[in-house]
Amino acid sequence: MARDTTAQLAVWNEYLWSVGDQGDPYALILRAPDDPYPLYEEVRARGPLHRSALGTWVTADHKLSSKVLRDRRFGVRQLSGEKAIESIEFDNSMLGVDPPDHGRLRKLAIPAINPGQMESWRPRIETYTEELVEKFLAAGGRANFMTAFAQQLPNYVISELLGIPDRHRPAAFRLTRRMARMIESEPTPQLVEDVTGSVAELYLMFEDIIALRRADPGDDLVTQLLPALDEGRLSKAELVALCAFLTLGGVETTVNLIGNATLLMLEHPDQFEMFKGDPGLAPAVIQETLRFETPTQQYRRIVQEDLELAGQVLPADSQVAICAGAANRDPEVYPDPGRFDITRPPGRELLSFSLGIHFCLGAALARLEGEVALAAVARRLPNLRRIGPIRRRKSYVIRGMLQFPVAA
Ligand code: HEM
Repeated sequence: MARDTTAQLAVWNEYLWSVGDQGDPYALILRAPDDPYPLYEEVRARGPLHRSALGTWVTADHKLSSKVLRDRRFGVRQLSGEKAIESIEFDNSMLGVDPPDHGRLRKLAIPAINPGQMESWRPRIETYTEELVEKFLAAGGRANFMTAFAQQLPNYVISELLGIPDRHRPAAFRLTRRMARMIESEPTPQLVEDVTGSVAELYLMFEDIIALRRADPGDDLVTQLLPALDEGRLSKAELVALCAFLTLGGVETTVNLIGNATLLMLEHPDQFEMFKGDPGLAPAVIQETLRFETPTQQYRRIVQEDLELAGQVLPADSQVAICAGAANRDPEVYPDPGRFDITRPPGRELLSFSLGIHFCLGAALARLEGEVALAAVARRLPNLRRIGPIRRRKSYVIRGMLQFPVAA
């Protein structure tokens, strides 16, 4: 890693720490505490939009967040094209680019991740989930739920979607786990180097998979995008970036949806009982988990031109942090927001999958995976209990666990 990047990171981390020590709620959120919710309330108390001492504009307001996400004057890149130093992104993936490139990439990927066709995945997801339960029970029914169950299903689904051959799957799994650390709160030089190395390894793997699919086509995303590649509508770098992005964005998020929903069931035994008695509640369990413990807690937008927002003047290139985990608990939108309630009537749209042009392309698939996984927990593991302390991932972006010891 370059010496100046190491120095920049050290300066950034020290600055973040000192601003937090002065009580700035956003700086404290970036330290990724186990319970960020009181800090979100501090952000909310400062009005719909406030400027952190770090320079970032922050919102916990549902209405304002929705407006920003749908407003084309906000993008994902700085005007110079540069990225913020504390983030490492997949530059060429659709989430890393603004129009017009964004529209081109999204349109190309839609047929392969078609939300309308997701139900056709159900049998495969159900079969694999059953296998996972059988394996878990056969091994004695005591394990870290995250590694034994929650991490397995989304990895399997993305491998199938992308057409990752069996021999590459263990490496893809390992690299995804390593890359997932990129969203940790304090990126050390060692971490950045490790993540950069994993991304590079994954890129090489997908170059290999593209060649393989050309020789032996399947019904996967890579095969479906080969004509666009050959006709010049998509560059190889963009295809590789999409695949690499999906192995993280389509996995780490869904892993934690499944983990969070299961923990919430164990913490609310009355609602778990209700669910066991009525498996048709699976979509409601997932919907309320997406609201109450939003797997992707935060994302950002960059102001593309000088503008006024919520009575404040924001110059071009300002950053706006959308705290989705807070907006999903906005009392103006969800009554009694701090109460987990699977019988809550459907309210306004959640911000868990973003809104506007970057609305998550895999939302339907993620919901399906979550519903099948939780239905299996209720039906096959009705006496599941926690047998030790949980350990949360140290991230302000992802809300989830690393350790969740359970017994069946
Ligand atoms: C619970 C699971 C998931 C959550 C919470 C989630 C959340 C999100 C969020 C918040 C964004 C937009 C971020 C922003 O606006 O800056 C996004 C984008 C995206 N997600 Fe997901 N995601 C999940 C699962 C998936 C899955 C399973 C896939 C694919 C199979 C997927 C594919 C994508 C893609 C391609 C984008 C980029 C869309 C664009 O830029 O137009 N996601 N996701």
